[in-house]
Amino acid sequence: MTTSGIPTAPGALPLVGHAPRMLRDPLRFVAGLAAHGDLVQVRPGTSRVVVVCRPDLVREVLLDDGRFVPGGRPHAGPGAAGPAFDASRMPGYAAVMTEHVERVTGRWKDGRIVDVAAEARDIAAGAAFGAVVSGGASRAAARRCVRDARMVLDGAYRRTFPPVPPVRPPTPGGVRRAAAHRRLRQAVKGFTDAYRAEGADRGDLLSVLAGVHDGGENEAPRTDGEIADQALAFFGAGWGTTAGTLAWALHLLAGRPDVQRRLHLEADAVLDGGGAAFEHLPHLEVTGRIVTETLRMYPPLWLLTRTVSADTELGGHLLRAGTDLVCSPYLVHRREDLYPDPGRFDPDRWTADRERPGDAYLAFGAGSRRCAGDAFAVTATTLALASIAARWRLLPVRGGTPRARAAGTISPEGLRMRTMSRAAVPSRTREGTA
Ligand code: HEM
Repeated sequence: MTTSGIPTAPGALPLVGHAPRMLRDPLRFVAGLAAHGDLVQVRPGTSRVVVVCRPDLVREVLLDDGRFVPGGRPHAGPGAAGPAFDASRMPGYAAVMTEHVERVTGRWKDGRIVDVAAEARDIAAGAAFGAVVSGGASRAAARRCVRDARMVLDGAYRRTFPPVPPVRPPTPGGVRRAAAHRRLRQAVKGFTDAYRAEGADRGDLLSVLAGVHDGGENEAPRTDGEIADQALAFFGAGWGTTAGTLAWALHLLAGRPDVQRRLHLEADAVLDGGGAAFEHLPHLEVTGRIVTETLRMYPPLWLLTRTVSADTELGGHLLRAGTDLVCSPYLVHRREDLYPDPGRFDPDRWTADRERPGDAYLAFGAGSRRCAGDAFAVTATTLALASIAARWRLLPVRGGTPRARAAGTISPEGLRMRTMSRAAVPSRTREGTA
């Protein structure tokens, strides 16, 4: 595509373009692009994409889905969430989240080392499944569905930016995933039939998809296949993103004992030894800022892709129809001119008295594709973090430092930490030892 006048990122090699650099360290590569212009061309192989680096241009792209058509990630469908993420549903979702934090942390032992990313995935999977199917599934059925959904999703996200081989031979993993997908559809159909037979709104996403929520009788009914796909898309959108945020927060806190201490003080004062519930949310200010700052540093969806629908102008450049664009929340969040010392984990950037660039926080995207589950995600992560902090202190261990794995989401691979029970510390000295 013609992208005349737009600088190309340095370091492209014949045939493979920037692919080697992108594969070696995709996050560093992407964050470095802002130094080369407001729009920068990148060659992930023989193709070209234009990366949008200036936050106001990123917003222009995300807000205008007529000129810049969304693509890449699985799409839940317009308005699919319906009332599933109404404020009225949050207390119920919060209770599910807390239950899963209790379940997972209940098996932690004082002084042991845990795989934090795996534990966070377990917590988030239960919570995300609970938001989709809150009742009506036995524990065993829920566990089976979560296992199958994870298997399907693990292979589903195609990389949007680093190069992928165009044709992949069938693999044993692919065959297992196809079987898991079939089981999942079958299970969702079973739940949907039960919801419809009962006709009651259970306050979850499936009630909306099955059309048994208030006002559902006025909507066009979805087919079983559509319901299963949308349920899976929601689970997929919510699971890895929330899990990654929780795991990164625990890792970042370990590097800032002073912040961790404030988190513990807040959790002690607000939760008073119990698990976090929805009504605690307004009082968990420090925890909320930690979540916001974690999402600034590691926005799980770090690449948002769009395609130019017809010749248009952006930032003073002509873009031809068909040009592929990439907007990266990670790139914007790591711009030194917007967030001074961007590599520093500093939740106090988000106190009310600090100035911040208005349009430069893009963890949840913008426009018609803006995250439908943002309130759910923030509520769930904040409550999970507070519940964990009330009882546990997680310490870094040698060899447990994570590698930021940037595929569909940015996840902390290999993050292992030692779980120290805070109950074992005399209460008088608890806050001093964090
Ligand atoms: C920390 C957690 C999360 C982050 C950072 C996040 C981020 C995002 C972003 C950036 C987008 C926009 C994608 C684009 O413009 O192409 C998006 C879309 C979406 N998110 Fe989230 N998300 C999170 C959690 C959730 C949860 C928990 C759910 C639901 C349970 C959810 C459901 C969705 C849906 C349905 C869309 C729209 C998808 C579409 O229309 O294509 N997200 N999310």
